[in-house]
Amino acid sequence: MKILDTRTGTLFVGARERLFKRAAELMEESGRERRTFSIALTGGSTPKAFYKWAVDGDHIPGAARTRAVWTVSDERMVPLDDGESNFGNADRMLLTPLGVEERQKFPWPVDVDVHSAAAVFNRRWTDRFGGESGFDLCFLGMGDDGHTASIFPGSPLLEWDAEENFTCVNVPEKGWRLTVTATGLSRCRRIAVMVTGENKSEVLREVIEGDNPERYPAHILSRFRERTIWLVDEAAASALSGI
Ligand code: 6PG
Repeated sequence: MKILDTRTGTLFVGARERLFKRAAELMEESGRERRTFSIALTGGSTPKAFYKWAVDGDHIPGAARTRAVWTVSDERMVPLDDGESNFGNADRMLLTPLGVEERQKFPWPVDVDVHSAAAVFNRRWTDRFGGESGFDLCFLGMGDDGHTASIFPGSPLLEWDAEENFTCVNVPEKGWRLTVTATGLSRCRRIAVMVTGENKSEVLREVIEGDNPERYPAHILSRFRERTIWLVDEAAASALSGI
């Protein structure tokens, strides 16, 4: 695996399975640092492939199965049994097959209105972990347009320094989403961004080597570069300098 040190974090570039293995190692490392630790998963096709790999090959470390509290870094306002629910997919494809207990599951409350959902999630998080703490291990993806979590191009969340870790946001053409804020990201102990596929290569170059978070929001991770790890397959990395 190739390792690149960049202004936007450390990049691990390799075949998809090597990246997945690194993701499982990050879970193990987080479990060594703290007895109870939080892992936020995310949505998209790459996490689904990761869940399948992890369950089929029994790759998730014991600490994560038994001691982690599991949630997602962003969520859609749909019931958990909807195929669009990020937590629902993680639960069906990873947590339930692993035998993770209900008390370890920390989904966003999607059964109330969206503003209440964000407020309730902030409150539950603060009660359980303290308002000044973020996820121990936060997984993110990057969309074709450079968005990460539910921070999309031109998003008010790029300018707004929220006090709170989590919020709701109305995304044009997609509707309301729930998401970790930049403040919430700044409080995470470690951030891991999985990016796969050739269709991401040009945008990834803009995110990693450019300087335009308004247009390519994932660039905000450069603020936390020392804690951000990019897990990138060779196709997605193909437009980067140094590859
Ligand atoms: C979501 C995710 C989103 C995702 C990217 C990457 O809820 O859809 O938060 O940001 O991570 O779109 O998705 P892929 O894994 O499909 O590339």
